[in-house]
Amino acid sequence: MNKNFYITTPIYYPSAKPHMGHAYSSIIADFFARIKKIQGYKVFFLTGTDEHGLKIQRAAEKKGMDPKKFCDEISITFRDLSKILNLSNNDFIRTTEKRHFISVQHLWNILEKKNEIYLSKYSGWYSVSDEAFYSDDEVEDADGIKKSKLSGSNVEWVEEESYFFKLSKWQKPLLKFYDENPQFILPKSRKNEVVNFVESGLKDLSVSRKSFTWGIKVPSNEKHIIYVWLDALINYLSALNYPDYSNELYKNYWPASIHLIGKDILRFHAVYWPAFLMAADIPLPKRVYGHGWILSGEEKMSKSRGNILDPIEIIKKYGLDPLRYYLIKEVSFGNDGSISQEKLESSINSDLANNYGNLCQRVIAFNEKNFNLEIPKNISFNETDLKILNDFNDNFEKLIEYINIQDINSYMNFVVEKLFASNKYFNDEEPWNKKKDTKRLNTIIYVSLELIRKITILLYPIIPNSSLKVLNVFEIKEDQILFESIKNNNFLIEGKKIKKMEILFKKIDKND
Ligand code: MSP
Repeated sequence: MNKNFYITTPIYYPSAKPHMGHAYSSIIADFFARIKKIQGYKVFFLTGTDEHGLKIQRAAEKKGMDPKKFCDEISITFRDLSKILNLSNNDFIRTTEKRHFISVQHLWNILEKKNEIYLSKYSGWYSVSDEAFYSDDEVEDADGIKKSKLSGSNVEWVEEESYFFKLSKWQKPLLKFYDENPQFILPKSRKNEVVNFVESGLKDLSVSRKSFTWGIKVPSNEKHIIYVWLDALINYLSALNYPDYSNELYKNYWPASIHLIGKDILRFHAVYWPAFLMAADIPLPKRVYGHGWILSGEEKMSKSRGNILDPIEIIKKYGLDPLRYYLIKEVSFGNDGSISQEKLESSINSDLANNYGNLCQRVIAFNEKNFNLEIPKNISFNETDLKILNDFNDNFEKLIEYINIQDINSYMNFVVEKLFASNKYFNDEEPWNKKKDTKRLNTIIYVSLELIRKITILLYPIIPNSSLKVLNVFEIKEDQILFESIKNNNFLIEGKKIKKMEILFKKIDKND
C-alpha cells in the first residue's frame, strides 16, 4: 500500500491580510495532514501564496508599491498565520520564487510543443477579483455594472492578443475521467456541478495576458504573461521540484492525494487543472475536495463587503484550539457555516470545558488522590467496561473510511458521542463509592484513563496542543502517537506513574 500522502491548501492571494476563510482551508488541511501522519503515512503538506496577476498588481499600485515588495510584506503575514494556526505544513511556496518560475515555464513549453496552445485574440469578460474569464451568459447587469453571476464580482471587457489552451478538446476525456473516478471530486454535489459545466461544452481557454507585466513570461513570446491560474496551479508541482522527475519529493508525492479548496475555485481545480495535466501527460491528482464558505453573518467574507473576520483577533481572545475545534466540528464540512461569538463560546463551554476538559480533570484528580498518580494494577474488565472500550475497535474501519472520504462530520459525531459516553461511564460507575472494592475501583479508573487516552488521540488532529497536554500525562510524545492504538484496551502499563495535567480550557464567563 502506498503510504505517502500529499495534501495541499489553495495558495492564497496576498492582496490583503489573511482572514477566517483562509484560516479555515488551512486548518482543515492540517486536520488531514495530522491524522494521516498518525496513521503512519509519510505526509507532505503544502501551503503558500499566489502572487502574480492583475489583482495583485492593482493592489500594489493602490499602495504605490512595487508588486514584489508588496507581496513580500503580505506573504509574511500568511506565513506567520500558518505558525499561529499551528499548521504542520512541510513547505510554504511563493509563486515569485525561482523554483516556481522554472516549473511554470517548463510546463508551458511542453504544452506548446505538444500543440496544445495557439495564438489568437481574446474578447470577452474578465474578473480581476476572481482572475477568471466569464462568458456572456455568466455575466449580468446590476444597476449598470457588469458582474459575474457566479461570484458577484465586477467584470471588465478585455480585447487583446492571447494564447489559448485547447480546453475544448479535453471535454470528453474529462467526462470519462470523472466517470471512471467517481470520487475525484467531493462532495458529490460539487461533482455534479462540475460534470454539468463540462457537459454543457468547453471553450478554449485564454492562458496569457498582454496588457500588464506582473507575472511569468511566456518563454517563446515575452510580451505575454502566463495566465495567473495556470501559473498558480503549477505550485502543486513546483513544490515537489518538478520537472526533476528523479527527485525524492516528486517520486514520493506526485500525484497529489488531495487538493483541498473552497467551492469557489472548483472549476480551476477540477476542470482546468486536470485538462492541463492530461495535455502535458502528467498523472492527475487523486482528489479535489471543495469545502463550503465561512460566512460572516449570512454572507461570504470579502474585503469589498467589509465583513472580514480576523482569525488572529479570535485566537487572542479564545485561544487557538477552541477556534480549530469550532471550525472543524461546528461548520458542517462541505457546507457553508457561520461563525459567531455566541456559538464559539458555547462550543468552548459545553464541548471543550464541560465535556472533554472535565472528564480529564476529574479522572486524573481522582487518580492523584486515590492512587498517587499511578496507573491502577490488578484490573479485570466486566461487560460494561468492554463494551465502551471495544467501541473504538469495533468502529475502527468506519473511522478510517470517514477519513478517507473526508467525512469529518461523521468522524466528529463519533468523537463527541464517545466523550458523552465516557463521562457517563465515570458518573454511573461512581468510583467514589467503590473504595472498599479495590479491584473494581482499580478497573474503573484504568478504563477511564484508557478512554481519555483513546479520545485524546482522536482529538489530536483537531486540537493538537491541548491533546499533547493530555497525552503528556501518559508520557506519549507527539511522534509516538499512533491512530491504531485506539484499538488497544491495555495500552497503559499497570503501576506506571502518570503526570499531572496542565489546565486545558478555561470556561468563558458571560459576565467577563
Ligand atoms: N489564489 C487562489 C487560489 C489558487 S490555488 C492554485 C485563491 N486565493 S484566495 O485567497 O482568494 O482564496 C483561497 C482559498 O480561501 C479558497 O479556497 C477560498 O475558497 C478560501 N476562502 C476565501 N474566503 C472564504 C470564506 N469566506 N470561507 C471559506 N473559505 C474561503 O482563490
